[in-house]
Amino acid sequence: MTVRTPTLSALLGDPRAKPDVRWVERLTGATPTKIQRTFAELEGERELVEELRTAYRAGGREFYAQIRAPFELYALVRLLRPAHVVETGVSSGLSSTFFLLGLEKNRTGVLHSIDLPTHQKGPVRTDKDSPVSLPPGLSTGWAVPASFRDGWDLRIGPSQKLLPQLANSRWPIDLFLHDDLHTPAHLTFELETIRPRLSPGAVVLADNTVWTGGAFDRFAAALGVPVVRKGRTDLVGARVPPKPPAPTRAGRAPAAGRRTAPPRRSR
Ligand SMILES: C[S@@+](CC[C@H](N)C(=O)[O-])C[C@H]1O[C@@H](n2cnc3c(N)ncnc32)[C@H](O)[C@@H]1O
Repeated sequence: MTVRTPTLSALLGDPRAKPDVRWVERLTGATPTKIQRTFAELEGERELVEELRTAYRAGGREFYAQIRAPFELYALVRLLRPAHVVETGVSSGLSSTFFLLGLEKNRTGVLHSIDLPTHQKGPVRTDKDSPVSLPPGLSTGWAVPASFRDGWDLRIGPSQKLLPQLANSRWPIDLFLHDDLHTPAHLTFELETIRPRLSPGAVVLADNTVWTGGAFDRFAAALGVPVVRKGRTDLVGARVPPKPPAPTRAGRAPAAGRRTAPPRRSR
């Protein structure tokens, strides 16, 4: 009898979280072979995926992948090597975990996360509770393994207040994920807040765009780039055009310099 190893998405508890090479390819321009190699790295992280699943079960969430692209988030971090990643909407911290894992592997870069939590009303989640509400006694990022928390810039409060503060920092944003309040006005507000702070080649993602009208399309049109949809889902992305390298006096482009970001401590 052949014993099949479960896929990572099945191990996580949501087969719909299957990694999509083509989506990452269109967002980064990396070759499929290179992208497959970053997904293959995750095979060594089965224990982490099991740890997340166990945390979800303990929190009363049997079937739970709030964002159906955790492995792609990891791949984007590995391929783009961002100095600063910003996300709005943390909840249990699935997206945060895979961003943090990628940054740890890169040994550089910081994740800045914003979340205004909602709380489950009673000891057991009912239909009246949002699936993203916090189980009793737990706080934002409750499933993120403790070993990842060092150096994680987690800010609790409304993104309406905290994102403009974050965008006022001197560093540029290399990777952004919107996954908090899914309304057209709020997504427009977040995209317009970060737009002036995006680095050349930055990738911007938004989940649940079925609820946000034409907000993301307008943002991509303003950048003059296509909207890159993950399969048939409503998770979309766009890439800021990379800056063409400035020619040197000899007419050659200079070697790429490293952007400065604090080094990450390893687990
Ligand atoms: C869909 S969940 C995030 C899922 C998360 N990205 C993941 O991968 O597990 C949305 C989160 O955004 C929070 N939220 C809602 N409105 C917000 C706001 N105005 N500012 C910040 N966070 C908000 C919700 O309470 C919830 O924790």
